[in-house]
Amino acid sequence: MQATTLKVSGIDVYAGGESGDATPPGHDEIVLSDTRRGIFRRLVLDGERLTSAALVGDVAAARRLTDLLRTGAAVPADLLESSAGPGADALAGDPAATVCSCNAVSVGDVQAAIRRDGLSTVAQVGRRTRATTGCGGCTSDVEALLEHEAAAART
Ligand code: FES
Repeated sequence: MQATTLKVSGIDVYAGGESGDATPPGHDEIVLSDTRRGIFRRLVLDGERLTSAALVGDVAAARRLTDLLRTGAAVPADLLESSAGPGADALAGDPAATVCSCNAVSVGDVQAAIRRDGLSTVAQVGRRTRATTGCGGCTSDVEALLEHEAAAART
């Protein structure tokens, strides 16, 4: 199983799973294209199982998609919805999950650093935890966690 995250002309791109442009017979294709936000997502499923995935502009879901391609687990409903990203609530509710696979930083590590040190920017989180300092593919996840913590602090 191949999966790769790249930055092409400053745009994040992810591709994983079986290559080829055509959707195989009997497979489903789910496409989200939002030219205003510069986001494109294409998922190809064989039943409930993900066989290939492509993301452009927002690669926040790349880590989860790679896991799904590797394990063959059923694709969760939130990834099939037309909104982009896993959602901050889902992410923040899973502290054991890895948010940054480059540097093995968990959601809980990022949350603890934000709370302990009062962090408010991605750069600060990067300096404290090293999340986002590798490929950068987890940046939107870290942004979502920062927003989630800020919203929680306001209530
Ligand atoms: S996943 Fe590459 S920097 Fe975080």
